[in-house]
Amino acid sequence: MNVRRLMFGAAVVAVLPLAAQKESQVRLLPEQASQIIPKEIYGQFAEHLGTCIYGGLWVGEESAIPNTDGYRNDVLQALKDLKVPVLRWPGGCFADEYHWRDGIGPREDRPRMVNNNWGGTVEDNSFGTHEFLNLCELLGCEPYVSMNVGSGTVQETAQWVEYMTAEDGPMAKLRKQNGREKPWRVKYIGVGNESWGCGGNMRPEYYADLYRRYQTYCRSYNGNRLFKIASGSGEYDLHWTEVMMDRARNQMDGLSLHYYTVAGWSGSKGSATDFTDEDYYWTMGKCLDIENCIREHSKIMDKYDPKKRVALMVDEWGTWWDEEPGTVRGHLYQQNTMRDAFVAALSLNVFHKYTDRIKMANIAQIANVLQSMILTKEDKMVLTPSYYVFQMYNVHQDATYLPAEVQCEHKMVRAQMGRDGEQRDLPMLAATASKAKDGAVHISLSNVDLKESNEVTVDLAGLELKTVTGQMLTVKDIADKNTFEQPDVVKPVAFKGAKLSKGKLVVKMPPMSIVALELK
Ligand code: AHR
Repeated sequence: MNVRRLMFGAAVVAVLPLAAQKESQVRLLPEQASQIIPKEIYGQFAEHLGTCIYGGLWVGEESAIPNTDGYRNDVLQALKDLKVPVLRWPGGCFADEYHWRDGIGPREDRPRMVNNNWGGTVEDNSFGTHEFLNLCELLGCEPYVSMNVGSGTVQETAQWVEYMTAEDGPMAKLRKQNGREKPWRVKYIGVGNESWGCGGNMRPEYYADLYRRYQTYCRSYNGNRLFKIASGSGEYDLHWTEVMMDRARNQMDGLSLHYYTVAGWSGSKGSATDFTDEDYYWTMGKCLDIENCIREHSKIMDKYDPKKRVALMVDEWGTWWDEEPGTVRGHLYQQNTMRDAFVAALSLNVFHKYTDRIKMANIAQIANVLQSMILTKEDKMVLTPSYYVFQMYNVHQDATYLPAEVQCEHKMVRAQMGRDGEQRDLPMLAATASKAKDGAVHISLSNVDLKESNEVTVDLAGLELKTVTGQMLTVKDIADKNTFEQPDVVKPVAFKGAKLSKGKLVVKMPPMSIVALELK
């Protein structure tokens, strides 16, 4: 192991040849604070995929599962507690086969369709535009609606926007007939999803023109100013970003980026729950590589848009493992362990650093799909370790980002599963900090080491803070998870291991722990 000093919020500044040690240092740099962490960084994603919508969020009014207007009460409450700022829907790949008119009007009259992307499940369209937008109102979050460019028409897209947001006109009349008098407020629209893949297998040169055309007819009605997001790269497709920025930047407010912590797109992705220490460290490395990916895309965006008007929207991210044995193929149902919790924490830390360009991120997905916040089975609900990270971190929403310098042990880890020779230098401690509007300072620390505890000394750089309280998420085994039988194995507990004296904070972190501190 070696020890390095990293600037969290700027570039690597120095490499210090210190001996290996179990202590780490963090220095806050409040004088460099200039960015607000947009709450939309904590965004969620709900696709018509497996049991994310049906069973996860929506059970219908007639269900024996306690519900409010068809939405599960337990899930509604858990999501309110999470302070979800924005919810992306209806896909994903599903969006480019979705025809919104199938999902309005009396439910018994709605046509059924085959969900070709996700296991061939028959979709009855009982959850449509009204059900989604009313859910957003209940949760107090912004809707983010993905339009069908792959198999839909320009007219269909234009009319959907009109249906949702116009006060008057033929689409508003139809909406009123369907029981909704006032338009909804819809700010974010995605014009195509993964248009290089499931969204139409297009070349960027072709999609750029199509994007320009489709977005032209997405009008801002009655003061509802739309924020238009173009389909962007998957991981490192820098050519896609280059072409989109060159040809369509003046027509977009945001360009998306998808980044999954996944061991390749063919063959096994690895078990969600049965993995080695080496697999775990690989995962941390792959997850942190999102920073490099963001930088590479940002460099291109900076060239075309030095004033950073166009936002980078990481509207799909998270872990992707093999489906849980015994579940429906194509439903992407996976368990969630403390390893996933670390991916959530480390990724959010990275997003905090780049909010000059990144204005939204949406973890995939909110319930029962990929790195879920929530798992459900009939009337039972479980909150995952990833849910608890989002809950512990939601104090950073709309707070002022405080850059910090971190000095800690590093470990050389395998970078890519199955690719020999690739190594990555993995810091054993990760840190992020922010200052809330009421003056409270929040520091979130992750000790990713599986075996060693870490005594972290935080230099508060003159900030006058007198009290410290905290919460901790930790486990006995990195593969620990919450199940329907044992739902409380991984859960935050009060943390007493932080002491504040003379402008310094000393935090004693056990191995495999995520600590969230509040200083006042
Ligand atoms: O989140 C699951 C799928 O991953 C989405 O539908 C698609 O956009 C991506 O490939």
